[in-house]
Formats: sequence, structure tokens, C-alpha cells
Amino acid sequence: MLKLQTIENPYTLSFHVMPSHGLLNDPNGLCEFKGTFHLFHQWNQTGLVHKNKSWGHLTSLDLIHWKRQAPALEPSEWYDKDGIYSGSAIEKEETLYLFYTGNVINDDGTRASYQCLAISKDGFHFEKIGPVLKHPEGYTRHVRDPKVWFDEKTQRYLMVLGAQKLDHTGDCLLYQSKDLYTWDALGSIFSDKDFSQLSQRGYMWECPDLIELDEQELLIVSPQGFEAEGFRFHNLYQTGYFKVQKDNEKYRLVDPEFIEMDWGFEFYAPQTFETSDGRKILFGWIGPMTEESEKKLPTNEFGWMHSLTIPRNLSFKKNRLIQQPLAELKKLRQTKETFSLKKSWQLETADLAYEVLLDFPEGATDFEFTIKKETKIFYEKATRLLSLSRKNWVTGCLEYRHVKLLTDLSYLQLFIDGSSLEIFVNNGTEVATSRFFEQGPLQLSYQGENTGLSTCYSLGNKKTIEELIF
Ligand code: FRU
Repeated sequence: MLKLQTIENPYTLSFHVMPSHGLLNDPNGLCEFKGTFHLFHQWNQTGLVHKNKSWGHLTSLDLIHWKRQAPALEPSEWYDKDGIYSGSAIEKEETLYLFYTGNVINDDGTRASYQCLAISKDGFHFEKIGPVLKHPEGYTRHVRDPKVWFDEKTQRYLMVLGAQKLDHTGDCLLYQSKDLYTWDALGSIFSDKDFSQLSQRGYMWECPDLIELDEQELLIVSPQGFEAEGFRFHNLYQTGYFKVQKDNEKYRLVDPEFIEMDWGFEFYAPQTFETSDGRKILFGWIGPMTEESEKKLPTNEFGWMHSLTIPRNLSFKKNRLIQQPLAELKKLRQTKETFSLKKSWQLETADLAYEVLLDFPEGATDFEFTIKKETKIFYEKATRLLSLSRKNWVTGCLEYRHVKLLTDLSYLQLFIDGSSLEIFVNNGTEVATSRFFEQGPLQLSYQGENTGLSTCYSLGNKKTIEELIF
């Protein structure tokens, strides 16, 4: 029996996309179609393990309030019988095209993957067309996660896929099409020479996404198998971007540096889409975690696991990706309290969700900000080191993540929702996303001596998802 998500459950989320039950992972098929936003997500409806994936489906008119719809795609055919894996959506002539990976486990335990198409005229009823690509030579069966977009310059549709080469190195594959049904293979995204410039390659690249922001093209990708380097790459798997440029049938690396997009404990497999008003929006998965962390996840007893991030508005400024919380989130603000940052303050509330702004017009000096008792954000001015610590729910020990800021810390924006925390630093120059699990009412406290003001908005407790009763 599933327990109800109520205020008694301190871990529930009010304004994040989370599953009504079961396990959620990657955002899929983000799009605006016929005036409605559609968000799909990886969903195991039958258990808290990574199996039986289908595409959960929600719709929205404002990207904040969602209505759950019936699952859009579920395993049913020989080519997707063991899972509808990640993919994307694109509209053409009033029809929605969904591209996804059909996951198949053969009788001998080996895996097959098929890049498949499903179409819809209304965004609610989907017709499976089946596989549209041949498996590429030189690659293992780990080829997946089609992201499709229309390339204005060549007037073609392009597709990028996450892949693993036979030598077990990560890669991305490109395809092109005129009609979305027949696709020509263009091969690996980069030349061998470009690949040789990378300091790390990893063994598999997942969920690639190619976008252009303020005239800079970026490959956003989630590689597996990167080693930690200084403060970077400490999570199970990584997500970041390369600056790239289209070069005939390949892309060229403008810079070989892989820039991690989020320095928190959990952020993975994001996807972007463009709204009709021209904004590029990203949702990510607040994951992944080790098998042991998932097994012991404190939400398991309430029958659900994981969530998506809040929507982030993307831009590219001063040679960096900027990720800012979607402006529409302001709609959630209810009561407002302000505190001077000159001296310590504390707030306790029965509400689950809060947004906190810390504004340091003269640049922050050392301070500590605590959520409940054991989740802390702290800053050291001398080194410009901003840190996050939380209690690990498996070991019971404190664990840390850090980022070294390129400029002084002048602005922090925090979104706290039950058991999730998103930190936007200096207007989205750096972002950290994490879960934290602590019992008891929400407490916020600040210790420091700074010029500036903190503003705390209660975002209430009311869920922004209207669940469908099956
Ligand atoms: C990323 C991922 C994708 C795959 C999906 C399966 O988290 O592993 O590569 O399509 O999840 O759920």
C-alpha cells in the first residue's frame, strides 16, 4: 500500500515533477505542442528499480503547474519490450514525432537497442511506427537517447545519439533526415583528432543535446566513467557541455574543456527545448545515485523515488553557460520576510517549500547558511570557495561538494522543497542540485556579518501536480 504524500512525509516535493509512485529518471520529449507544454519522463511504474521503463506524461500551460496524463509510451512491441528509453519530441506539420530508444533484453541476456518513432496528432494518443535506424557498425548495443532538432542552415533534421564504441569509449553519433522517417548516418560527432584533445573520454556518453545559445553551439552530454579532477566530477556520473561548431557533417570542438554544469550531488541527463517565445529551457533529473543509495533512499517507504529539477532558462554570456530559474516560478511566492545579513537570523516554518535570496552587494565575506540541522552552504572569501555539505543517508557521515568561484559571491538564490535543494550562484553562473533527507520542520538559519539583505518567500505546501487517479 502506498502512503499518502502529506505534510507528515517530510521528504515529499511540492513544486517539482516527481512520480505519483515508482521510480522517475530522465526528462524526455520536452516540447510545446499546439499551445500546451508536454513533459515526458522515464518511469518505472511497478517498482523502485531501473527496469520496465515507460514514458510518463504531464502537461502544463505555464511550466510550473502540471497535470498528469496517462503514460504516453509503454513496452508493447518486439523492439521495445523491455523498456521505452529516453528520447525527444519534435513537431512537423501539426504532428508530434517522438523519438525514443526501444530496449530489448534477448533470451541469452544480451541487450539490443532500437531507435524508434511514435507519432501523435493531438499530443495524447501515440501511434508507434517502429525502428527508423540500422544499428551502426563499430558500436556496442549501448546506443540510445535520440535528440532531434531542425537545422535551419541545412534545412534538415538532425539527430544526435549517445553511444559506446566497440573499444568501450564514449561517443555521440549524428544522423540527418529530410522527412523524419528515413535517416542517413553521418558517423561520430567529432573527428579522431578532436577526440584526442579531450583529457577524459569515459566509457559511455548518454543523453546528448545540441543547442545554440546566443550564437554559441553547445554539446550537452552525460558521460559515464570520468575520474574526479580537483573539485570536479565527484558524482557517480557527470553532466556538462563542450563548446562546439558545426563543420560540414561533423562538429568541431571550439575548446576541449568539458565544463560540469552542476556542482551538487545529483544532476544528470538534462534535456532542453525551445518555447514559442524563444526561450531555451532545461529540465534535469535529480539523480543518479549508487545502487546502495537508491536501495536505502528515505522516500522508498513512501513508494516513490527521484524527481526532476525546476525548469532552468539558459543563456550564454561571457563565454559561460548561464542557468537561471524560470521566471514563472515567482508565481509560487506567498509570504515574504526579509532579514539583514549583518547578523545571524533563524526562521522555522511548517511549510515545505521556500525560496531564499541572499544579496551581497559588496561581495560576500565568510558565512554559513543551514537548512534544518545538517545541510549547510558555506563560503570562504579568501579562497572564493563555496561549499555544500549534507548527511549521507547510507553512511550517516557528512559529505561535501565545492566550487571555486571565478568572481566574488554577490548573489545566491535557493529553492528548497521537502528533500531537494537547488542553489543558483551569481545569477546562474554556477548551479548545485542535491537531495537532502532530514526529519522535522523546515528551519533556515544564517550566520555571518555581511552587508546585504536576505529575502525569504514561502512557496507553501500545495502540490503543483494534479495527479491522475488510475
Ligand atoms: C540516463 C539513461 C539513458 C537511458 C535511460 C533509461 O539516465 O541511462 O541513457 O535511455 O536512462 O532509463
